[in-house]
Amino acid sequence: MKIAIGCDHGGYELKTKIVEYLDERNYEYNDFGCYSTESVDYPIFARIVADKVASGEFDRGILICGTGIGVSIVANKVKGIRCALVHDTKSAEFTRLHNDSNVLAMGGRIIDHQLALEITKIWLSTEFEGGRHINRINMIERSQ
Ligand code: RB5
Repeated sequence: MKIAIGCDHGGYELKTKIVEYLDERNYEYNDFGCYSTESVDYPIFARIVADKVASGEFDRGILICGTGIGVSIVANKVKGIRCALVHDTKSAEFTRLHNDSNVLAMGGRIIDHQLALEITKIWLSTEFEGGRHINRINMIERSQ
């Protein structure tokens, strides 16, 4: 699984921890920035990651800004992207099972960082359930 990851300054600290987590577990990923806490515009980084996933070059994306809201709004404007803003483990599991979400968004200033790592673990390891949810995913695609 190839993962594209990106953040703005508000998500930089948490992104660093998630990148460490991905390294430790030998995930294949590319970090598309930003690379410091200097103020940047989150739509730039969210769009890069969303495009990488939508094009098929990467299988999944992870986006972090201060709240997670800005990056999720941007990502969900890209056709083929189903970005889930997640701040609890149950949602992490069910957005994979039911929505086949391909981008995970979190707020680095909102969530406890240890919990964010647990969410990342669950989101990366849970498979789409398929079945009755396939038609619903197709309905989302047709509405874009
Ligand atoms: C940056 O200050 C902040 O607006 C951004 O990280 C994010 O929370 C936007 O939704």
